[in-house]
Amino acid sequence: MAADQVNEERETPRHIGIIMDGNGRWAKSRGLPRMAGHRAGTKNIRRVLREAADLNIEVLTIYAFSTENWGRPQAEVSHLMRLISQSIRNELDDLDANGVQIRHSGRLAGVSKYLQKQIQGAVERTKNNNKIVLNVAFNYGGRAEIVDAISQIIAEGTKSDEVTEDLVSRHLYTAGLPDPDMIIRTGGEYRLSNFLTWQAAYAEYYATPTLWPDFDEEELRAAVAVFQGRDRRYGLVKDS
Ligand code: FPP
Repeated sequence: MAADQVNEERETPRHIGIIMDGNGRWAKSRGLPRMAGHRAGTKNIRRVLREAADLNIEVLTIYAFSTENWGRPQAEVSHLMRLISQSIRNELDDLDANGVQIRHSGRLAGVSKYLQKQIQGAVERTKNNNKIVLNVAFNYGGRAEIVDAISQIIAEGTKSDEVTEDLVSRHLYTAGLPDPDMIIRTGGEYRLSNFLTWQAAYAEYYATPTLWPDFDEEELRAAVAVFQGRDRRYGLVKDS
């Protein structure tokens, strides 16, 4: 079996997180505006999600908009908001029909009331679907998520000696989901960028120079094959 092929006999990741970077550069290299890159990037989510479902991956978390992304030019922020809203409007029936459960990780505060309703509606409508979870990290920051969890834990009157890792995990936006086994970053950078800060503690990291709109089924399979070749030790020593 070639090293870049998925081995059906070996474990595949249950949960993959993707930092979808490189939309702007993809557009620029074609002489197009950045927005065209985000449109192509949005379209790409579909094929990667389909392939992930075929690979029996249980959860795909995509980094759609970070708490830091509000600092981008106003026109780009508005465009990204519109894209997300349009995607929910255009794709929800199909996602639902294909058993995709949509989850949202992030803060709703600060997002338009209309989009808040759309997100909540999509989550509610698909909550019993079980083919694959598409967890959309939107208005998401890993540190903000931990702050929100601590704040909730305190508000619940938890005693200090009752605080455990499990309790914190259960107060994160991702409560109930397995931790990511692998984080993929497209676009050639080697940073986590405040993505799944708590949950990625033991995730395998995979970076590729491929720009997000070009990251296709084959690229996903190659990433999974690399994951299968990794030796996960969780701080322990290897069996002899
Ligand atoms: C990074 O590329 C990409 C983003 C900040 C946004 C990603 C968002 C989408 C693909 C749309 C999400 C849509 C839905 C429906 C969830 P970049 O602009 O930083 O690229 P660059 O590094 O080449 O400039």
